[in-house]
Amino acid sequence: MIRIDLEKTKPDTKQTQILVLGLFEGEPELLLKRLENGLLSLVKEILENGEFTGTFGSSYLLPTFGKIGPNRIMLIGLGKKEVYSKEIVRIISGKISVKIQELGLDEFSLIPFSNLDKELAEAIYEGISLSTYRFSKYKSVATKLPELKDVTILVESDYHEIQEALDKSSLIVEAVIFSRDLCNLPPNDCPPSELAKVAMALTDDYELKVRVIERYEMESLGLNGIISVGMGSSNQSKLIIVEYHGAPESQKPYLFVGKAVTFDTGGISLKPGEKMDEMKFDKSGGCIVLAVIRAAAALHLPLNIIAMVPSVENMPSGSSYRPGDIIRMYNGKTVEVANTDAEGRIILADSLAFGIKTYDPKGVIDLATLTGAAIIALGANVAAAIGNNVSLMDKLKKVSEKTGEKLWELPLFEEFHDQIKSSVADIRNIGGRQGGAITAAAFLANFVADKPWIHLDIAGTAWTQDGTYERSYIPKGATGYGVRTLVRFLQEESHKN
Ligand code: BES
Ligand code: ZN
Ligand code: ZN
Repeated sequence: MIRIDLEKTKPDTKQTQILVLGLFEGEPELLLKRLENGLLSLVKEILENGEFTGTFGSSYLLPTFGKIGPNRIMLIGLGKKEVYSKEIVRIISGKISVKIQELGLDEFSLIPFSNLDKELAEAIYEGISLSTYRFSKYKSVATKLPELKDVTILVESDYHEIQEALDKSSLIVEAVIFSRDLCNLPPNDCPPSELAKVAMALTDDYELKVRVIERYEMESLGLNGIISVGMGSSNQSKLIIVEYHGAPESQKPYLFVGKAVTFDTGGISLKPGEKMDEMKFDKSGGCIVLAVIRAAAALHLPLNIIAMVPSVENMPSGSSYRPGDIIRMYNGKTVEVANTDAEGRIILADSLAFGIKTYDPKGVIDLATLTGAAIIALGANVAAAIGNNVSLMDKLKKVSEKTGEKLWELPLFEEFHDQIKSSVADIRNIGGRQGGAITAAAFLANFVADKPWIHLDIAGTAWTQDGTYERSYIPKGATGYGVRTLVRFLQEESHKN
């Protein structure tokens, strides 16, 4: 992990390989008034002759020839002040750390772009540390750049609270990276049993309890939805349950459920070949909820939390479930399988019903790469949020505005339930082409009883795909979308206790 420290040192005297200064476009005086002595005269000259104007993402390097503390100065363009936001900070900070690595340096110092508070410090940290992530586990020849090790933020006043926020932030960033590493694993190295192992290993480092429900136990419990979807694969299905107890038992837990289809071929309703390889990311929801509970434990949040990860591989074979099958689910409802590719909702449904019955949670959030329709509706940069509880939804929306992990609510009107009616069972697992992300949620609604519940369809946001915006801090592959938002949601919930 990259270390970030705060230090009360004058920028012109700081011994550092490179000092980074941000400039708002067309506002040189905002930067200049914060500088002194030799540093001021160096930068002033560059800005006054119009050499560097601060357009978004642009940069300018200048040597200092030993006249001041820093060896070099990097000016970075923050763009127009009116559109400045925490998201801009994450993107710019990410660009800076990538550039520093490209220069072959392992350390830099930075003057905060604007008034330093906890949120700005967190955004800087997230940008710096999430942008340098690369999934290189399978590269025989390392194409790695020199590792960035230390960043110093130069401050003018007391900073203990901010340093504390940064320390917490680093635990959250570690969780994001954990989820990326797990989710990027190829399907041959990450069957359900591997996810179970990774979950078990969490108990080495964190105060977590892990229970893995195997096929025989699923049979006796009646988790027939999970059993059915996994039948076609020679890799055994697992229902992974992680418990975190940070509060007295009397306090009801939050329940997170994450879809972990380690590979989704579609099953007998086989998917077309193009981009099928991307279906290794169909385990994203599960990876995210494991990361969330890991972060909650690392932060010692005073809450109780349950993470459930139904994990299966959806394969076509002689033992697969078929279109036409009718499954009696854990909660007794019957489901007509009209398409074996709509498998995520089936495994989530059993997990939701089982989790709610077993743990009586105060709120439930599920995450799943559930439908291509969510991408058609909202594109690849916004997750679909669908639920049954206004106050839970409002909380999530507010938190997501802060984290930059965009989500947008779709309506779960009564009418959508008509689309999943079946002539032979209680419901069908598909609802036709119209409103596909919503009918998937309508299906899930049959399994959450009356609990406050939100479903996040992360099909577009879980990995970088066609249509994903280029953002420095979201490199290629699994994004970790949702970890920061859900952890922050939990942090805010714990302040209430
Ligand atoms: N895992 C897919 C959804 C998906 C597709 C996510 C593409 C990201 C990119 C899911 O299991 C699925 O196949 N859903 C079907 C549902 C349909 C058969 C009703 C879909 O979206 O096509
Ligand atoms: Zn599918
Ligand atoms: Zn799927």
